[in-house]
Amino acid sequence: MKVLVTGTAGFIGFHTALKLLRRGDEVVGLDNINDYYDPRVKFGRLELSGIDASAIEYGKLTRSKTYENYRFIKLDLSDKEGIDRLFAAEKFDRVCNLAAQAGVRYSLTNPQAYIDANITGFLNILEACRANPVEHLAYASSSSVYGLNTDMPFSVHRPVDHPISLYAASKKSNELMAHTYSHLFGIPTTGLRFFTVYGEWGRPDMALFIFTKAILEGRAIEVFNGGKMRRDFTYIADIVEGVVRVIDRPAKPAADFDSSKPDCATSSAPYRVYNIGNSAPVELMSFIEALEESLGKKAVKNLLPMQPGDVPATFADTSDLERDLGYKPATPIKTGIANFVKWYREFYRV
Ligand SMILES: NC(=O)c1ccc[n+]([C@@H]2O[C@H](COP(=O)([O-])OP(=O)(O)OC[C@H]3O[C@@H](n4cnc5c(N)ncnc54)[C@H](O)[C@@H]3O)[C@@H](O)[C@H]2O)c1
Repeated sequence: MKVLVTGTAGFIGFHTALKLLRRGDEVVGLDNINDYYDPRVKFGRLELSGIDASAIEYGKLTRSKTYENYRFIKLDLSDKEGIDRLFAAEKFDRVCNLAAQAGVRYSLTNPQAYIDANITGFLNILEACRANPVEHLAYASSSSVYGLNTDMPFSVHRPVDHPISLYAASKKSNELMAHTYSHLFGIPTTGLRFFTVYGEWGRPDMALFIFTKAILEGRAIEVFNGGKMRRDFTYIADIVEGVVRVIDRPAKPAADFDSSKPDCATSSAPYRVYNIGNSAPVELMSFIEALEESLGKKAVKNLLPMQPGDVPATFADTSDLERDLGYKPATPIKTGIANFVKWYREFYRV
């Protein structure tokens, strides 16, 4: 298969591209390599994929030195002409859109970045798929779409109309936009609601990374909501396994879809939404304890109130994923955290 994976200088996109490459798919990776967080981590991921930083030129494909089936292009999703040109030239079989402006807190201060990358950018992907038909478009949504919902575990079959950050609203918008294109133009689309992903080559703006850095440097860590937050932390290898299985299985119209009682996760159009989460929420304090154990060092904790935009708990109902893809994330946090710490120490030589 010839697959476009966007966001391949990013955490999930990098791991997804590697998995597809290792099984022999032809992959084009795309990223604008922005500086939302330390670009050295992004260039490190690209380097490991065989993409030489000095060979990268905006709008031009670079071939990997490690994987002959991998090419990378530095391109912005909001660059409509560039996206159109790429799709017309490459004629992808499948597309996996993981590039986005991520992060809940940043969306409170930088709302425009979310409109540019997640709304305009996603529209450009949809339009390009319309002009150059693909067998399947899989794209990242987020557990943050559950917003004010406290009906646990979170089910894809219940409405999500109460986002509490513009980030969440942009992800919910992606699901609505995808449905429209699935209905109007028959593009098979699957949205993936990821639940707090962690692991090696993880994101420097996320708790595990920030905590690890602070603990190793002997600084206090900021623990929001007094550590009483519960998160369905999901290990990167589990996420990527799910993403690849989803790419392989184009969405189909649901034969039993009843428009008088419309199910939120399916449609008469080739449209689906899945949760991908560990389905075993862990209290933030326990997560910190597992990290302390892995690092062999105690954290100094600065307990703080809840942050605006944050939700107190997440918990994925993954029964659809299990039924349709025969799969369920299962890596325990101790294993995942130990793998992260090993990577962190090697990358930063600490
Ligand atoms: N990591 C998580 O816990 C998590 C949870 C829920 C959803 N998600 C979603 O999963 C996807 C991947 O997340 P991630 O953790 O790998 O984030 P990431 O920030 O590491 O990766 C996203 C990549 O997209 C690139 N990008 C941003 N805007 C772009 C644009 N306009 N054009 C081209 N590239 C652009 C960035 O440079 C970055 O490398 C995102 O859509 C994110 O919202 C992640």
